[in-house]
Amino acid sequence: MELSSRRRTMGWPTAALALTAAVLLIMVPEVASVRYIVGSGLGGWAPNINYTIWARDKHFYNGDWLFFVYDRNQQNVLEVNKTDYENCNSDHPLHNWTTGAGRDVVPLNVTRTYYFISGKGFCYSGMKFEVHVEKAPPPPSASPKKSASSSLLSSFKGQIMVPTLFAVAAVWDAFLLHL
Ligand SMILES: *[C@@H]1O[C@H](CO)[C@@H](O)[C@H](O)[C@H]1NC(C)=O
Ligand SMILES: *[C@@H]1O[C@H](CO)[C@@H](O)[C@H](O)[C@H]1NC(C)=O
Ligand SMILES: *[C@@H]1O[C@H](CO)[C@@H](O)[C@H](O)[C@H]1NC(C)=O
Ligand SMILES: *[C@@H]1O[C@H](CO)[C@@H](O)[C@H](O)[C@H]1NC(C)=O
Repeated sequence: MELSSRRRTMGWPTAALALTAAVLLIMVPEVASVRYIVGSGLGGWAPNINYTIWARDKHFYNGDWLFFVYDRNQQNVLEVNKTDYENCNSDHPLHNWTTGAGRDVVPLNVTRTYYFISGKGFCYSGMKFEVHVEKAPPPPSASPKKSASSSLLSSFKGQIMVPTLFAVAAVWDAFLLHL
């Protein structure tokens, strides 16, 4: 009895911290950068998927991320210019995002159009993705639905937000490990 009540007293700050972390984790996706899994719901980065159709209902903002998940033995992720995108030419990529794990993260940190293809001929099977990156949207505080704390969070958007997200995730992990 004595032990259990003491444990509860000591556990409370941790629980409060974890609750805060959980609330932040839930709130973060609507204010922070979005990480899109390319082709999510259709098979990821793979042949015979139309990425124009996949992207049709999405907005990509400066600060968002693309996550390419694919068969590392077959495909890769190459950023090319418009001409090479149209011709499926992988001979002179602007950037080779392939790291070898079949899981590559690309930061969309410039407001422009990006062109991605898979080399080794897969571009001809539809593995080409043109993404229009728009200027980051205005802070969500303009919307009456958002709470004061979420508009505060939005001011941390960008460079500070990602480390914060990782820090919050680390606290959350620490809490889970404690249990
Ligand atoms: C793309 O790069 C190729 C080869 O370097 C070049 O010939 C072509 O003009 C470039 N196209 C654009 C739109 O920059
Ligand atoms: C891209 O980089 C990966 C990993 O460094 C490398 O294995 C691959 O050959 C490169 N591909 C091209 C087309 O440059
Ligand atoms: C965008 O990200 C790339 C890759 O991390 C980096 O090399 C580049 O400097 C960044 N550009 C800007 C404008 O932040
Ligand atoms: C993808 O679908 C769009 C819209 O229907 C079409 O214009 C485009 O040619 C298709 N792309 C490929 C690679 O099939």
